[in-house]
Amino acid sequence: MRTFCCAGVLFLVCLTTIAFCDKQWWQKAVIYQIYPRSFKDSNGDGIGDLNGITQGLQHVKDAGIETIWLSPIYKSPMYDFGYDISNFKEIQPEYGTMQDFDNLMTESKRLGIRVVLDFVPNHGSNESDWFDLSANRTRGYENYFIWADGKPDPNNPNKVLPPSNWLSAFRGSGWEYNAIRKQFYFHQFAIAQPDLNYRDPLLVEEMKNVLRFWLDKGVAGFRVDAIPHLFEIDPKDFGGKYPDEPRANFIDKVPEEFDYLDHIYTQNQEPTYDMVYQWRDLLDSYEKKDGMPRVMLTEAYTPVKLTMRYYGNATHNGSHLPFNFEFLRGITKDSDARDIKFIIDKWMTYMPLGRTANWVNGNHDNNRMASRHGIERADIMNMLALVLPGVALTYQGEELAMTDGELTWEETKDPAACNTNDPINYYKSSRDPARTPFHWDDSANAGFTTGNFTWLPLAKNYKELNLKVQIAAPKSHYKFYKDIVALKKEKVLVEGDLESKALTNDVLALMRYLPNEKTVVAIANLSPKDSTISLDSFRVLPSTMKVYASSLNSKFEKGSTVQTSNLTLSPYDAIVLST
Ligand code: GLC
Repeated sequence: MRTFCCAGVLFLVCLTTIAFCDKQWWQKAVIYQIYPRSFKDSNGDGIGDLNGITQGLQHVKDAGIETIWLSPIYKSPMYDFGYDISNFKEIQPEYGTMQDFDNLMTESKRLGIRVVLDFVPNHGSNESDWFDLSANRTRGYENYFIWADGKPDPNNPNKVLPPSNWLSAFRGSGWEYNAIRKQFYFHQFAIAQPDLNYRDPLLVEEMKNVLRFWLDKGVAGFRVDAIPHLFEIDPKDFGGKYPDEPRANFIDKVPEEFDYLDHIYTQNQEPTYDMVYQWRDLLDSYEKKDGMPRVMLTEAYTPVKLTMRYYGNATHNGSHLPFNFEFLRGITKDSDARDIKFIIDKWMTYMPLGRTANWVNGNHDNNRMASRHGIERADIMNMLALVLPGVALTYQGEELAMTDGELTWEETKDPAACNTNDPINYYKSSRDPARTPFHWDDSANAGFTTGNFTWLPLAKNYKELNLKVQIAAPKSHYKFYKDIVALKKEKVLVEGDLESKALTNDVLALMRYLPNEKTVVAIANLSPKDSTISLDSFRVLPSTMKVYASSLNSKFEKGSTVQTSNLTLSPYDAIVLST
C-alpha cells in the first residue's frame, strides 16, 4: 500500500483512502503503563526506581510490547505520589538521576521500546520555586497559579472565607489560604497541588517548554493528566469573582465530597480543547523534523461526547488517543455479552471517522482489572482489548491477572483515602490496592526489591501469582496475553474490519476480517456454565478453523482444529481462532 500511496499520480486517491494506508506505530500499539514506584526497585530501599525499570524492560520486550508509559518520575514531595510536581524538568531523587533516565532511554532504544512520559499540566506543587515566586508576586510568576481574595466572614471580621464553594477531588474546599500572598489558591486535587493558570501566556509557554525538554531527550510522547480540570471560568466574565457551583444530582453525597457539586465552572471549559490542539501542533512539529510521529494520550473521565472532542475536529488534530474509559468503567463483572458489545459499539459509534480507537483495561487509579472483573474473566478482558482495532492499554501486572492488594488503614498512603479520615470506609476511595508492587517471582518481596521493606505491602497471592511461575507453566494468563500481543502485529488485526456479535446473552464473538488475509475470531464465554454456540452467522467463515490461543482454563488446545458450527465453551472460556 505504501508504494501505491507514494506513486505521485495516485496521491489524492491515497488521501481519500487514508484509513487503509500503512498504520503509524501508535495506531497499532500495545501501551504498557509502568507505575515507577511499584515496578522494580534496584537499590533495596523498597521503592521502585528508574534503574529498576531499565532492568525490567526485558520483560516488556519478551511480552512483545514496544511502548511504555511511565507515571510521573519528576521531582515531587510525593503527597500524590508524583502527581504533585515541584520541578517538571528534574528527576525525583528516590527514583534516580537524569543519567539513570538517559540510560533508560538508551536501553529502551536498544530493545526497540518507545517511552511515553506523563505530563501533568493542571497543577504543580506548593513546595516549588514557581509557587514561592508566585506567592511573593515575583515579576513574571504572579499569575502562574489561580489566586483569589477571600470573602469577608460575616461572623468574624478578622477572618476571610474561601472565594467560592469549589471543592477538591480529594475532599473538602478546593481553596487554601496562603499567608505570604494573603490570598487563596485553588487546588482541584490535594492542597499540595495548586492549579496552574492557563490564562497566563507565560505559564502556557513555560509548560510547552516542559514538553520540548523531554521531547529533546527522545521521548515518544505524553499521557496528559486530568485534562478536564485544566481551565476554570474567567473571573472577568463574572464581575471579577469566582461564582459558586450548583449542587449535583447525587443525593448520597456529603458536602465535602467532590460529586456534591456540579462542576460547571471548573471542568470541561471551552479553552481546554484549544490547548490540547496547541500541544498536538507542538508534537507534530517534532514529527516534521525527523518523520517520527509523537503521540498524545489524554486522561478525561467525561461523558463520551466530550471525550471525543479531544480527538480534534475538521480543522485541528488533538489527542491521538483520548483514553477509552467507557471500556474501563462501563464493563463490570456482571456485564454479559450484550452489555460488552454495547460498550464496544458505543466507542466505535461516537469516535470521529478516521481516528484510532483504544481499549483501557486499568490504570493506577482504579482497582485492578482481575479484581474488578473476577480473575476468571481476566483472560477475556485482555483478549478483547488486544483483538479490538486500535490500541490496547495494559497496566503493569494485568498480563499476569494480578489482583488488588489489601491494605489496612494504617498502611494506607493514597491521599484520596487518607483524606476520608475514615478507618472503616477508607478502602472505597483508596487507589493503593492497584499500586502494590509488581510480582516478579515467588522469592521474598516477590523479587520487587532486594531490601526487606516495600513502600506498600505486597498482594498476598504473590507466591502463586507471579511472572516466573507463569513463564514456567505450560499455560498461564501471561502466555495467553503474549500470544495475542504477537497476533496483534499481523495485518488482519492492524487493518481488518471488526464485526462483533452477542451470539447468546453469554457469548461474545469478535471477528476481524481483511480480504486476502487470514480471518481471526475471538470468542468469550462470560458465563460460569458451558455454552454451545455456532459461528455460522458470520457468513464468511469456513467450516473449520484453528485454535490460535486459548485461556488458562480452556479445554481447547492451541493448534487444534474446530468445527465453527458447533463449539462448546467451558466457563469463562476465551479463545482466539484463525483461518
Ligand atoms: C490523575 C492521575 C491521578 C492523580 C490525579 C491528580 O487522575 O491519574 O493519579 O491523583 O490526576 O494529578
